[in-house]
Amino acid sequence: MRVSWVTDDKHAPSVVEYGVVSGNYTASASGDHTSYRYFLYTSGKIHHVTIGPLEPSTVYYYRCGRAGHELSLRTPPAALPIELAVAGDLGQTEWTASTLAHVSKTDYDVLLVPGDLSYAETQQPLWDTFGRFVQRHATRRPWMVTQGNHEVEAALNIPGAPRPFAAYEARWRTPHEESGSEQYAWLKRDLAGVDRENTPWLVVLLHAPWYNTNAAHQGEGEAMRKAMERVLFEARVDVVFAGHVHAYERFTRVYDNKANPCGPVYITIGDGGNREGLAFDFQKNHKLAPLSVMREASFGHGRLRVVNATAAHWAWHRNDDADSVVRDELWLESLVASAECGKRAYPGSAGGSPIDEL
Ligand SMILES: [Fe+2]
Repeated sequence: MRVSWVTDDKHAPSVVEYGVVSGNYTASASGDHTSYRYFLYTSGKIHHVTIGPLEPSTVYYYRCGRAGHELSLRTPPAALPIELAVAGDLGQTEWTASTLAHVSKTDYDVLLVPGDLSYAETQQPLWDTFGRFVQRHATRRPWMVTQGNHEVEAALNIPGAPRPFAAYEARWRTPHEESGSEQYAWLKRDLAGVDRENTPWLVVLLHAPWYNTNAAHQGEGEAMRKAMERVLFEARVDVVFAGHVHAYERFTRVYDNKANPCGPVYITIGDGGNREGLAFDFQKNHKLAPLSVMREASFGHGRLRVVNATAAHWAWHRNDDADSVVRDELWLESLVASAECGKRAYPGSAGGSPIDEL
């Protein structure tokens, strides 16, 4: 598990002390640190420390930089069931606070964020306020994020401009170094290496939705869909979560613009609560409308509870509802367990020959 934090103190050590008893740190780990400049802004010292190996389903108490107050986190379980919370396009508004409050109201194991985090829009101190904003939640459970367009912050045509993703890569370090290759080659190799006996469920997180009947961001995911949809389909990916469109939308199982029982369920969950507001204009006559099962422009979050190797429960929760009212839900059967789709699973899953690299 990687622990990341920022200090103003440039001499603060990149060390995390931890243990299973409060105040009794039986282990410690050292990591590295970075910082970045963005025109006149210079970030604090950004520390990244990987701790572990950790026991599953265990609460660890930890302290960052040999100073400050104690934090605690719980590791995910080693076996099913596991509960994944999903919230995209967060920002740092009162709606975001409401979303995160709803997320923590019911227990969960991991939070997935399909892109668009701080909405700093090049105002770098807003990355710092975003860190403080989410700290109460992000210190307690693992977060896995992916990048959206709001992470790019490219200042094109300005000489000496910071490189794209400068803040995001420095602050929200994902396992891209561990991935070993660039996106398409990595994806094919990673999927081919999944043993579906041990890993019956495959969930993909990306930003711009491939399937979308909202007027907002129409067609923006199309190039990526054309390049990668077949790879996910053949790998029998169960669910694809996207953000970007600030609303909720769930499709039936789809492949190549047609309903297909062996395709993934596509879910847009870009309704975390950012300052740009909601995308209200769902198009009734959109060519994909017959495949869209549920769509609503409200802030909220989703939860995928993977019960066992064959069954998972998906639920979408609206922030508008004081109690945890589920506005959309369904039971999913894993594709590898399905009599119709399982037999044609990705050849790599049976330990077959490696898939051709691009
Ligand atoms: Fe976006």
